[in-house]
Amino acid sequence: MNVAGQLPKDIRGEAYTGAATCIKCHKDLSQSYAHSPHGSTSKPVADAQLLKVFAADSNSFLFDAHQKVVIEKRDSGIFQVAYQDGKALRAQKFDIQFGSGEKAYTYAYWQGKKLYELPLSYFAAIQNWAISPGFPRDRFYYDRGITSRCLECHGSYVEKKLSQKSAFVIDEEMEKGSLIYGIDCERCHGPGKQHVIFHTENPEEKTAKFIAIYKKLSRKQKMDACSVCHSGNTLVTQKSVFGFKPGDNLDEYYQQDFVGFGGGNPDVHGNQASMLRGSNCYRKSETMTCQSCHNTHESIKGNLTIYSQRCISCHQTTRHSKATLAKGSLSTNCIDCHMPKEPSKLITFQQAGKNDLSAYLLRSHHIAIYPVNK
Ligand code: HEC
Ligand code: HEC
Ligand code: HEC
Ligand code: HEC
Ligand code: HEC
Ligand code: HEC
Ligand code: HEC
Repeated sequence: MNVAGQLPKDIRGEAYTGAATCIKCHKDLSQSYAHSPHGSTSKPVADAQLLKVFAADSNSFLFDAHQKVVIEKRDSGIFQVAYQDGKALRAQKFDIQFGSGEKAYTYAYWQGKKLYELPLSYFAAIQNWAISPGFPRDRFYYDRGITSRCLECHGSYVEKKLSQKSAFVIDEEMEKGSLIYGIDCERCHGPGKQHVIFHTENPEEKTAKFIAIYKKLSRKQKMDACSVCHSGNTLVTQKSVFGFKPGDNLDEYYQQDFVGFGGGNPDVHGNQASMLRGSNCYRKSETMTCQSCHNTHESIKGNLTIYSQRCISCHQTTRHSKATLAKGSLSTNCIDCHMPKEPSKLITFQQAGKNDLSAYLLRSHHIAIYPVNK
């Protein structure tokens, strides 16, 4: 039997085969993965999907008495339409959704081979639309480009073409048809075609072959496998991280950022790796990695009791003052005291009719004793 010949082709190259193949043997994992935040962090916008957040009474955003953006369903799709004094000036279709909706959805539209961000994003905290982070507050804006860099963290692949327009301007074009949405199996596990061929030809073999074994990686390698996407958006890439495989050295992909590691001022958004590296838990233990608390194949979101047990696995005894102990729930919620939610310095958003920007809260991965506890 020619196994290799029967496997689907994958745009990433000969060594890859695509998630549909992995699912055949790893059914239980695959089902949870399809709905996981990683798996659904980017997708093409299909109408029904969007309708969840598209309620008739909240489908427009008023900038002022004259300008608004309205979310409109038309025959050819759903659009964000900008109006000035009742006149439609610009309409762009929802093409791609970024985010699983845990905290937010941001949307993009294609213009030729380029992607642009739509002016309104949806925020779970307010269950409503607001101006996309970093956009002007007083007028609608449709021209913020979205590069392949967003997809390097929110997708699995896109083919791009760079051309030097002038001494300082590099132009990027992306091939729509090559885009692999979501973070798929091979994005985290590396190319798996040889693994599939081997296990199809040797069904009696129960030990995994030709795939990286996470448990056998060094601590740095384990951290690198998550830091590809969880160490902030300011690092400069030397080569595309789409090709990163578990076991690779991340320093060969990102230029060294000596300030960001532990020192500097990392943000709670997108930079869990640097936040964690700055904590005593990480510095003084020899084993802590992201996997000490997270298994990307289980869903325990919001279950702070289970997370607290992971703290207790290293902290069987703790010295808390009487005042702290009096606050109760000590054994079931270490998290709110030692990893409080903090506003991002990078992401804020503008709600309609409000003067101040609204905060975007995330769990701090700087595990420490916080003054608010006292
Ligand atoms: C023909 C069946 C088959 C297919 C298809 C398959 N696997 Fe596996 N895989 C196995 C077997 C058998 C094992 C070993 C037993 C186990 O761990 O479940 C394994 C184990 C693994 C492991 C665990 C490695 C470890 O840490 O021990 C990973 C990761 C993995 N596969 C990823 C993939 C990915 C990614 C794909 C798709 C590219 C894939 N598998 C497709 C059969 C398959
Ligand atoms: C290819 C980029 C990428 C890699 C690699 C990656 N992540 Fe993520 N991760 C993301 C993005 C993007 C999100 C936001 C998903 C969303 O809600 O849209 C996320 C969300 C999460 C979340 C919050 C949602 C949840 O599942 O509870 C956790 C926890 C997480 N990642 C842990 C990890 C760990 C641990 C690793 C390493 C094993 C890892 N990630 C590897 C990009 C990545
Ligand atoms: C270096 C990796 C990286 C890059 C680049 C990046 N993101 Fe993210 N993004 C993340 C991670 C990690 C999260 C989830 C955890 C967090 O906010 O810290 C996230 C969260 C989000 C969310 C909220 C998801 C949810 O379900 O709550 C949206 C929306 C989003 N990003 C859109 C974008 C867009 C649009 C771009 C490009 C302009 C972009 N991101 C670039 C890593 C990245
Ligand atoms: C966000 C990254 C990420 C994605 C996406 C991902 N995995 Fe994993 N997977 C991991 C990590 C990390 C481990 C190791 C868990 C550990 O040792 O704590 C793992 C473990 C496994 C294992 C070993 C068994 C287990 O439960 O520990 C298998 C098999 C596996 N993954 C298959 C898959 C398949 C199939 C897909 C796609 C449907 C997939 N993975 C998607 C990160 C990922
Ligand atoms: C892998 C083991 C490990 C895990 C898991 C772990 N810690 Fe720690 N933690 C340590 C070590 C080691 C220290 C340093 C102890 C010392 O200095 O004597 C520490 C220190 C601390 C400190 C003191 C911080 C400071 O700045 O002085 C706090 C508070 C703490 N941990 C809370 C937590 C909480 C809450 C969790 C779960 C969210 C957790 N830890 C998970 C190993 C761990
Ligand atoms: C000591 C335990 C611990 C370690 C280690 C840890 N996390 Fe977390 N993480 C948590 C807890 C607790 C939450 C909050 C979960 C919840 O609210 O359901 C969380 C939430 C997250 C989220 C969602 C952000 C949010 O605000 O909702 C992301 C993304 C994430 N972790 C990524 C990582 C990455 C990447 C690493 C490694 C660099 C890591 N974590 C290491 C305990 C940990
Ligand atoms: C009500 C808030 C609160 C809760 C809940 C809480 N802590 Fe603490 N923790 C503190 C404060 C405040 C301190 C500093 C000492 C003090 O004033 O009690 C501290 C100190 C610590 C220390 C450093 C002292 C030592 O024992 O070495 C560790 C470690 C720690 N906590 C771990 C944990 C773990 C693990 C949990 C969950 C089982 C937890 N804490 C639950 C507030 C809290």
